[in-house]
Amino acid sequence: MSLAKKLPWVFKYRPRRIDELVNQEEAKRLFIEWLNSWFQGKPGKKAVLLYGPPGSGKNSLVEAAAKERGLELIEMNASDYRRSTDIERIAIVSSRGGSLKSDRGRIIVLDEVDGVSATADLGALESILNLIENTSHPVVLIANDPWDPKLRELRDACMMIEFKRLTKTDVKKVLRSICSSERLECEEEALSYIAEKAEGDLRSAINDLEAVGEGFGKVTLATVKALLRARDRDLNIFDVVRKIMISKYAWQAREASTQTDLAPDELIKWVHENLPRQALDPDDLWRAYEALSRADVYLSRIIRTGNWDLLSYAVDMMTAGVALSIKNEDYKYKWVKYSFPETIRLMVKTREARQVREDLARLIASHLKCSTSTVKSDVIPYLKVIFDNNPEYAAKLALGLNLSESMIRYLSESKGDTIVRQVERFRQEIRKTGTEGKPTSTIPESRPSSKRTEKKEVKSSRGLEDFFKKQL
Ligand SMILES: Nc1ncnc2c1ncn2[C@@H]1O[C@H](COP(=O)(O)OP(=O)(O)OP(=O)(O)O)[C@@H](O)[C@H]1O
Ligand SMILES: [Mg+2]
Repeated sequence: MSLAKKLPWVFKYRPRRIDELVNQEEAKRLFIEWLNSWFQGKPGKKAVLLYGPPGSGKNSLVEAAAKERGLELIEMNASDYRRSTDIERIAIVSSRGGSLKSDRGRIIVLDEVDGVSATADLGALESILNLIENTSHPVVLIANDPWDPKLRELRDACMMIEFKRLTKTDVKKVLRSICSSERLECEEEALSYIAEKAEGDLRSAINDLEAVGEGFGKVTLATVKALLRARDRDLNIFDVVRKIMISKYAWQAREASTQTDLAPDELIKWVHENLPRQALDPDDLWRAYEALSRADVYLSRIIRTGNWDLLSYAVDMMTAGVALSIKNEDYKYKWVKYSFPETIRLMVKTREARQVREDLARLIASHLKCSTSTVKSDVIPYLKVIFDNNPEYAAKLALGLNLSESMIRYLSESKGDTIVRQVERFRQEIRKTGTEGKPTSTIPESRPSSKRTEKKEVKSSRGLEDFFKKQL
């Protein structure tokens, strides 16, 4: 089976060109005109807001346009908006000319902006408005429902482009063409039934078609009804995980994963967390974990290489792989209580510390001219030892590197206070001698137990290099 054949159909049959999008003629026209105006250097509005029902082609249009014109997409979605700093980071990238990857033009995409109003961080809206004002690249906002009063300013800053709910005829047209590409036998009434249930959401219609095609090999009204009648589109994530575990056939487990919007890298956490609750037979458990670990390997390979063809293998492993591993029926169908993934909880809890570590790594990396991951693995652990054991020396390092208080506390929980105070004393000392900012100044070697009493020179607010050269 070829790789392409294993890709989920919503990826495989994504429109590659703008004219492959069905319907949405008005939206396509307005969007193309706007994009052209950008590249002729005269955008009327710097941003557009694409809005309309789910699965009607909003992201597809942007992606097709980017592909046609060789533009790079920089995308963010609702979960990124909780921190306005993340948006500012994008804003900085977007105001610069070329990118690290290439010198191609770019489109900045902010998906699910209607999610912003629900989050506590209203600073995010401010940051988005700022981004629109200062950007030197086209900005595309996407929302299902843009009419929240909180989004008024955003609406004013954007050209509004509406996507219509796709008609049953539109949906059927796409389904029919997929059936013919897949050489899948299908009955007209079966496609009508799928289209009817989809209520204009082409994504869910394509997913339904794939589930039926994969499960039964042909699409008849009977098979469609058998599969879809029981289907509840709003299955919650616990139900999805449960469905995966109790699936008897591979296709059932795969199909369950299409009933959630959760990305595979999230889904795997849910399965991982709850697997040992369901699969109590040790034989089942190791087999299932074997499958999960393979899924994990594929996922990290996708991240490393950008090879999305591996996605369907990862999904197969974490759904079908797990389902078929749990064989002991004493446990397989037993109802057990599931819980929220511990890793996600932990990530939320440690978010601040991780941010400090990230900033620290970046700061040191810029001094040492190496990568941040090298700093994290080879430098920070040693710094922690120094900071825990030699506050005096640590304070000098902190001063030389210009570390913030939270960075110092990150490096040493127990001695953080002492070091911060010591740094402050050094600063005062420098100020007292009135030499701050001048090429040389002195820091007293004030370690009481030290026999060394000579004073050494240091440029007070310079970087590590100077500090090491002159001070140590
Ligand atoms: N107008 C269309 N023409 C062709 N295919 C479409 C169209 N709209 C949606 N699709 C199909 O449905 C899938 C989902 O579409 P897309 O991601 O563009 O939806 P969306 O409008 O962004 O929805 P949401 O609001 O849920 O994010 C695509 O992979 C594509 O295959
Ligand atoms: Mg979308």
